[in-house]
Amino acid sequence: MSAKTFQLNDSETGKTVDLEARPGTVGPGVLDVRSLYASTGKFTYDPGFAATASCESGITYIDGTKGLLMYRGYPVEQLAANSSFLEVCYLLLYGELPTGDELAKFDDTVRMHTMLNETMLRLFNGFHHDAHPMAMVAGVVGSMSAFYHDTTDIHDPRHRDIFAHRILAKMPTIAAAAYKHTMGQAFMYPRNDLNYAENLLHMFFAVPAESYEVDPVSAEALDLLFILHADHEQNCSTSTVRMAGSSGTNPYSAIAAGIAALWGPAHGGANEAVLNMLEHIGSVDRIEKYVAKAKDKDDPFRLMGFGHRVYKNHDPRATIIRGACHKVLEKIGRTDSPLFELALKLEEIALRDEYFIEKKLYPNVDFYSGIIYRALGIPTSMFTVMFAIARTVGWVSHWREMIVDPDTRIGRPRQLYIGPTARDYVDVDKR
Ligand code: CMC
Repeated sequence: MSAKTFQLNDSETGKTVDLEARPGTVGPGVLDVRSLYASTGKFTYDPGFAATASCESGITYIDGTKGLLMYRGYPVEQLAANSSFLEVCYLLLYGELPTGDELAKFDDTVRMHTMLNETMLRLFNGFHHDAHPMAMVAGVVGSMSAFYHDTTDIHDPRHRDIFAHRILAKMPTIAAAAYKHTMGQAFMYPRNDLNYAENLLHMFFAVPAESYEVDPVSAEALDLLFILHADHEQNCSTSTVRMAGSSGTNPYSAIAAGIAALWGPAHGGANEAVLNMLEHIGSVDRIEKYVAKAKDKDDPFRLMGFGHRVYKNHDPRATIIRGACHKVLEKIGRTDSPLFELALKLEEIALRDEYFIEKKLYPNVDFYSGIIYRALGIPTSMFTVMFAIARTVGWVSHWREMIVDPDTRIGRPRQLYIGPTARDYVDVDKR
């Protein structure tokens, strides 16, 4: 069967160019524009890559109109209801749900990699006590290539595997070390008898002087949030990891670049911004004022946790988290959460407003996640770090997919040059 083509007419030269149309397994196909420059002398222009597929991928699929999110074909609702974060990690990394034996082995391997090189731990002492945890985590993850040389040969599948297990296992430990440094508390070593989420809570909230029991409800809630944040196809931080990785840099540096990209308030930093915004709004009677600010073209304020590049109906992650909020707050005995009440009211008012309806702005994953993190006792400045822990598996999966993709080339976009035309240098005394 011959490939479908799309004809483009260049009105300047009168030439017709055939572009190959390539279908995906589901969702919109793409036009392969790689030959465009050679045949027309023109590039495509697409700031923010809103209409550009940068790669082929078999990991995650989103249908923004239907509000559908699937990891390796499995709807996120099914995974959230039945799976565990580590099982989802296996699925994202290896493409299939594991058998019982495979899962046990994978779980064991991740548990065996949770400790940090002691020298790496000492890096935290170089940070000021009030350093933002995302700054510490980005810096320390970037330093990992200096500690784990044995996993930086990107062409060796074994190195790539050990790297994946190592970074997955150590992210909670690094996050906890950043938290303990901020608090001025002793670092708590990981406990490999605990599962991923339990271990994280232990490293965060245990202190050497007292015994600490991990609350199973909190661990379950954290595991759910991690599943929902695990991957989201070619978002800003994942594209950053792919871009950095495409130069052949070591994988730890590529992940550090992703962490830096995630930090911004338009991306993962939104969960911290949502909580700050809700606290700033303070009470239900002030909501209208902030909704008006968000709608004002001359005011840079946006409703944080609202809107998404891809979701134009609802964000399925937000729907699940909203439901989980009720459950978690009830189980933890904090049904009177004023922030949750405020968030529900803000959502209700915004969803009735013509501006938000017309622009298809709905609550996204970050709108409610912070309320659960807050209920678990995690401080606001750590929210984006939580996102980074969960998204690490997505970054690693995409990096691995990119490394073995024969179409991968160094990421190097072109531009429309609008600067001065050629001119001659003028000596300083003649300017
Ligand atoms: N509040 C008020 N107006 C908004 C908002 C908002 N939260 N989001 C978008 N708009 C308006 C925007 O002003 C623009 O209006 P106009 O067409 O009149 O210029 C229109 O909606 C389209 O917005 P955009 O910025 O062109 O859309 P985008 O796809 O480039 O940006 C976004 C998507 C998520 C960055 C944006 O909606 C936003 O800044 N939201 C708040 C930050 C946030 O919650 N980010 C978390 C995203 S989900 C987690 C993740 O995956 O990172």
